[in-house]
Amino acid sequence: MSNNNVLLEVKDLKVSFYLTEATVQAVDGVSFTIEAGKTLGIVGESGCGKSVTARAILGMVRKPGKITNGEILYHRAGQAIDIAKLDPEGPEIRSIRWGEIAMIFQEPMTSLSPVHTIGNQMIEAVQLHKSVSKSAAEAVSVDLMRRVGLPYPERLLTAYRHELSGGMRQRVMIAMALTCSPRLLIADEPTTALDVTTQAQILDLMRDLQDEYNMAIMFITHNLGVIAEMADDVIVMYLGKEVEVADVDTVFYGASHPYTQALLRSIPRHDVDVERLETISGSVPDPTAIPAGCAFHPRCRHYVKGACGTPPLVQVSAQHQVRCTRVYEINEHLAAAQTE
Ligand SMILES: Nc1ncnc2c1ncn2[C@@H]1O[C@H](COP(=O)(O)OP(=O)(O)OP(=O)(O)O)[C@@H](O)[C@H]1O
Ligand code: SF4
Ligand SMILES: [Mg+2]
Repeated sequence: MSNNNVLLEVKDLKVSFYLTEATVQAVDGVSFTIEAGKTLGIVGESGCGKSVTARAILGMVRKPGKITNGEILYHRAGQAIDIAKLDPEGPEIRSIRWGEIAMIFQEPMTSLSPVHTIGNQMIEAVQLHKSVSKSAAEAVSVDLMRRVGLPYPERLLTAYRHELSGGMRQRVMIAMALTCSPRLLIADEPTTALDVTTQAQILDLMRDLQDEYNMAIMFITHNLGVIAEMADDVIVMYLGKEVEVADVDTVFYGASHPYTQALLRSIPRHDVDVERLETISGSVPDPTAIPAGCAFHPRCRHYVKGACGTPPLVQVSAQHQVRCTRVYEINEHLAAAQTE
């Protein structure tokens, strides 16, 4: 990987929430790199730390949460700025947040103001990053809304969020995120609440815009089907840790962690009968009571007491890491490659 392409390097990131009754380790030592123009998919069930990781990158971890360890190195103009060390209210992070790294939030309803028109919110977003007149900002807003496929954008300028459908609100969120031509767009479950057709349209749109702006995307979802369509590289998270890291083809054709394998068995695939779909046994444990040793062990069909221990992330090939002590025993293809 050429170093010039690296946009963001997250190293050993830890985020804790200090609740009165317990401390929750929401993100527990996660590391990854995002390159310009590429899409990193982050997948995992609810509560695995996906959104908290995203918020940390924008310096927006909510109280009582705190970054307790690690670096978030944002590369720009030959320099690396550690976002984890910046004052979350300071001018430096504010110039990066929305100016260079933008986010589409999981809850579009709460991200758009109910009391201001769509036009006013878009114009304000444009003027935050560009010193242009109100009428010029309005023209930029109309253009962006047209670009994201919103019908009659001039009319939408005077509309309020309750007058828009879910798909339209999501398109407005994308248009707002693009007002600053970000280098990195973080999309947190941007299509989960939408019908399948609208979802497909929004994904197409994001890919087109990515090509046009050479924008990197961090795409968060619990839908592996969406990961297959969008991602170049994938991180599978479970209870705040990466359990498998690989390129998208390896995840779909050589998944080696029991959790990834279980996720894959639970989604429809063209090569598997729908009748054979399975659900993952059990559920994600309460984050205040993370199981000792391998956190996945209560749900793992390959768990062997005394053999699993606390697994480190094992490098099974150049671009493939798996957090499982028994990774070679349960994956014949990896064991065979190892002895070659
Ligand atoms: N504001 C908060 N206060 C307390 N704990 C929080 C808060 N936000 C997140 N957490 C804790 O961090 C864990 C990870 O949360 P996060 O929102 O990152 O999950 P997620 O993977 O995005 O899940 P989902 O798929 O449901 O969006 C949660 O299980 C919760 O325990
Ligand atoms: S270490 Fe053991 S319990 Fe954990 S994923 Fe591997 S086989 Fe399953
Ligand atoms: Mg989330």
